[in-house]
Amino acid sequence: MFKRIRSYCLLGIKAIPVSVEVDASQGLPGFTLVGLPDNAVRESRERVVSAIRSVGKVVTGFRTTVNLSPADLRKEGSALDLPLAIGLMCATDEIAITDLDKFVFVGELSLDGLLKPVRGVLSIAMDLSKNKDSVLVIPRANAAEASLVEGLSFICADTLSECVESLERQDKASLQVARGLDRSVLEGTLDVPDFKNVVGMEGVKRALEVAAAGGHNFLLVGSPGAGKTLCARCLPGILPEMTDEEVLETTRIHSCARWSGNAAGFKPLLSRPFRTPHHSASMVALVGGGSRLLPGEASLAHNGVLFLDELPEFNRCVLEALREPMEEGSITVSRASGSVLWPARFMMGAAMNPCPCGYSMDPKRVCTCLPDARKRYQEKISGPLLDRIDIQVCVPPVQTQQFACGKGAESSAEIRRRVCAARKIQRERFAGLPFRCNSEMDSECARRFARMDQATERFAISSADKMNLSARGYYRLLKVSRTIADLRRAASVEVQDLAEALRYRAFRS
Ligand SMILES: Nc1ncnc2c1ncn2[C@@H]1O[C@H](COP(=O)(O)OP(=O)(O)OP(=O)(O)O)[C@@H](O)[C@H]1O
Ligand SMILES: [Mg+2]
Ligand SMILES: [Zn+2]
Repeated sequence: MFKRIRSYCLLGIKAIPVSVEVDASQGLPGFTLVGLPDNAVRESRERVVSAIRSVGKVVTGFRTTVNLSPADLRKEGSALDLPLAIGLMCATDEIAITDLDKFVFVGELSLDGLLKPVRGVLSIAMDLSKNKDSVLVIPRANAAEASLVEGLSFICADTLSECVESLERQDKASLQVARGLDRSVLEGTLDVPDFKNVVGMEGVKRALEVAAAGGHNFLLVGSPGAGKTLCARCLPGILPEMTDEEVLETTRIHSCARWSGNAAGFKPLLSRPFRTPHHSASMVALVGGGSRLLPGEASLAHNGVLFLDELPEFNRCVLEALREPMEEGSITVSRASGSVLWPARFMMGAAMNPCPCGYSMDPKRVCTCLPDARKRYQEKISGPLLDRIDIQVCVPPVQTQQFACGKGAESSAEIRRRVCAARKIQRERFAGLPFRCNSEMDSECARRFARMDQATERFAISSADKMNLSARGYYRLLKVSRTIADLRRAASVEVQDLAEALRYRAFRS
């Protein structure tokens, strides 16, 4: 008998409908699988036949042909195990399911019939929710993910036999309807250091507040041990909460990125990602790709922060590859096997020493580097990359006396309140526009929204001229000024805002 089972395959974060067509007939027993399966899919037959046996059904002894359609799309991973198992059992009349067309199956099977989680279920659920009558059948470990998509009907099960039972019964108890994002899971505090434990460094804290408020890229330059890494690690504590839409976007990328094996215990990402790849990271690790077209750190940092500590130690080509996503907010990865677009709208943060010995900016120590070595070190960061960094601050070493005075610093929660207020102003400003924060504005909007009087504008132009800012640099200056004015809740940009923004452009390599 011929049966068609609906399922999905992933291409990047896109979920693409696939049908598993099974034809089982009398004749010389055999099994043929066609339709561009990869190794994991080809091996699924062994898992599936054994899993079916654990349910007490027998599907061997037939001449079986399985086609995965569309035939020109490469199918990978183990998510097709479940649809294949259901298809084989239906085609050999071992089970009968009413309205089979309504169901969409994804899930990996183990030899003893356990249903194991797969990656990308959120993308699949989002695509399927456009089609109101369909029901998604998934492993129970993926249920949290599917339930993020409000209104989606789904059935989840721990084992193949439980799944078959639910499908045969099709009662209210087995069918669930997703309720959408539940923010109460957010309870519990973020496990990040608090700014109140950072002594002094008021200037750096302020710079990070501005960066967080407008989503601006930042670079911290200073002596070893000055507290650059510490301050950057405090940043997640002052970032504003993600909107529901952002939670779904980010969670979706993380769900597609994981290996199926660790898809268990999945929770939606309610706080902004803070990714800190090591400086030995390869191009593929950072921007994504590889033979499986997986996302890189830049995409995993979508809606959050990509923090590159020890910036000059990164491979130069790897850093240059970030230039495009920093402007576009997405990365297109192309390979022989296809091309996929990964969202990658992140705030880039970086930290570095000013020279190989680290002390050329230190008022109390002497730099032992030759001028040439210092120059070479700073040249590791290209001009175009530096041009994209709106906020560049020098981190002075903390005076030791400051540790003794023990004056209570402002906590991250207080700073975050101001950041959130500034973001709220931006959300209202950009209603109906494709931007979410000041750093994303295009040049026309930067001019329009960074309103200032004529004298201030003259000051902006003459300062930009003196500092040899590029056109991009000038617009970025306007955007940072806009954010600083937003933090003051001011309608127009004034000289003091511009002056502060100009100070953040002070580091030149
Ligand atoms: N302002 C500060 N208040 C409290 N502790 C600090 C401060 N600055 C530095 N420290 C302490 O010093 C340690 C080292 O700081 P951190 O790792 O941030 O230095 P760094 O600037 O990143 O140095 P490097 O250039 O070597 O990477 C921190 O873990 C923290 O314990
Ligand atoms: Mg450090
Ligand atoms: Zn030096």
